[in-house]
Amino acid sequence: MTGQQIRDIVTDCVFEGDMKFREPMSRHTSLKIGGPSDIFAIPENVASLGRLRDYLQKNDIAVFPLGGGTNILVKDGGIDGAVICFRSFRTIESLGQDDEYAYLSVGTGTVLQRLVMYSMEQGYAGLEGLAGIPGTVGGAICGNAGSFGYEIKDVLVSVDLMGAEGQIQKVCAEDIRFGYRKSDILPTDMLIRAEIKLGRDKRADVSARFENFLRVKREKQPIWESSAGCVFKNPEGLSAGKLIDEAGCKGMRIGDVVVSTIHANFFINTGKACAVDFIRLMHEVAGRVRNAFGITLEPEIKIVGRENGNR
Ligand code: EPU
Repeated sequence: MTGQQIRDIVTDCVFEGDMKFREPMSRHTSLKIGGPSDIFAIPENVASLGRLRDYLQKNDIAVFPLGGGTNILVKDGGIDGAVICFRSFRTIESLGQDDEYAYLSVGTGTVLQRLVMYSMEQGYAGLEGLAGIPGTVGGAICGNAGSFGYEIKDVLVSVDLMGAEGQIQKVCAEDIRFGYRKSDILPTDMLIRAEIKLGRDKRADVSARFENFLRVKREKQPIWESSAGCVFKNPEGLSAGKLIDEAGCKGMRIGDVVVSTIHANFFINTGKACAVDFIRLMHEVAGRVRNAFGITLEPEIKIVGRENGNR
């Protein structure tokens, strides 16, 4: 199906929210890289999301749920079918607390740092190690985001997700398999809401830990530049950044993509970078690390989309 055919089909769908066609994904990724998605839909509410999903499924149009776009590289040909944005699902509600814990219900489109700040203001502990991680709560759960030994899975109680049949089901955290920067949540599952459980602590203590983590991050990582965070996973017991640095790759450039001189596992878009150059630089860097240390680096970022010229 061509983008125009998809557009013609979807125009008939009754939809509450915003819908764009041929929307450049470079506008929705922290790397500012990525060709157009056939459809970019921002449903206003769960009912509207459900209707859209049914409609897309009936018409055999692919669905791509998008988090914050902060851990993905979208190829230059863009994304097939419909990208779904959860921007309207931004809520943080208290579900009550006991002496030890506070329970929150969080919309998955909530910006992760908004939740981290909220927790800090309330004196709720458990998320302070995620200081400075960009993206949304939904994306963080799918990829089990973490740093400084903290992982989002450790505070998760359950998620409400819309599965392939469009039904909403509550899935307990124990029934999701989480690993290092991964989970077995399917790429087509749409997370709508999450329930989390945080420890209760002194506001000043939570705040001090948060500030400390953020300071370290600002010193060691170029978090103010256009990147997708760490490009490669850390091999067991080693740091990919250190290996890339020691293989002499800092400052390497292909087109507008540069290996950061601050942290070598961050690749920066310094201008109008394209995905092809980013991927070439990944191959080049991984090759140098393999030659120097005999270690094969695995991508940490998700590479998605179609090659340029496919559509
Ligand atoms: N190092 C270098 N050169 C570099 C980068 C790092 O020598 O260019 C050295 C550091 O000096 C340090 C060691 O490598 O001795 C480890 O570096 P760092 O403390 O920065 O941690 P990391 O292993 O590179 C991991 C995560 C980060 C997370 C930090 C802090 C991965 C791939 N990286 O980085 O996560 O923020 O720990 O917890 O798991 C991400 O997932 O996108 C990410 C950035």
